[in-house]
Amino acid sequence: MPFVVAIDGPAASGKGTIARAIAAHFGFHHLDTGLLYRATGVKGGDPVTAARGLMPDDLSRPDLRSAEAGQAASRIAAIADVRAALVDFQHRFAARNPGAVLDGRDIGTVICPQAQVKLYVVASDEVRAVRRARELNCDPADMLVQLQERDRRDSERAAAPMRPADDAVVIDTSDMSIDDAVATAIAAVDKAR
Ligand code: C5P
Repeated sequence: MPFVVAIDGPAASGKGTIARAIAAHFGFHHLDTGLLYRATGVKGGDPVTAARGLMPDDLSRPDLRSAEAGQAASRIAAIADVRAALVDFQHRFAARNPGAVLDGRDIGTVICPQAQVKLYVVASDEVRAVRRARELNCDPADMLVQLQERDRRDSERAAAPMRPADDAVVIDTSDMSIDDAVATAIAAVDKAR
């Protein structure tokens, strides 16, 4: 079985940065699974049909990073049939050699429970709001409200709620530099190899 690193956690916790760095360091493929939900959310129409018909081009739309796309994603991500429609693609990606890093909300718990390494990346609400507001050039107070709403929806839904796997290594990046967070994650992967 190829090597799989599953990385979950709330928005702007640093999981994407860590996922990209691990993939680059170990030469693994990387999938930001949030893009699947964002692309489904912004496509419009029936979300289950949108998820089933997702095309590679849909994942490179320039508007996927917006806060609106994040909110749309989190609304359609609560629908079990939408999630089911996206499982195959994620499983096929996780089977790629020599290894894959997938980041999202349910990778360690639902998509790849057999992953050799599971990380759960967190940071305080305030730190996350400031980070994301800087990226999107908007007001941190508004961002805080949006992130909290999205986290609540993601963690309280019945279908694959956001939570750490029992055997996940938790990394709190609130007071860490990017380099330190990446080094901690790389050490966790090294340990499992
Ligand atoms: O990670 P990102 O912020 O791009 O994810 C957008 C939304 O997609 C999340 O708020 C969540 O509702 C949904 N999502 C999910 N499961 C994943 C990845 C993302 O439900 N594995």
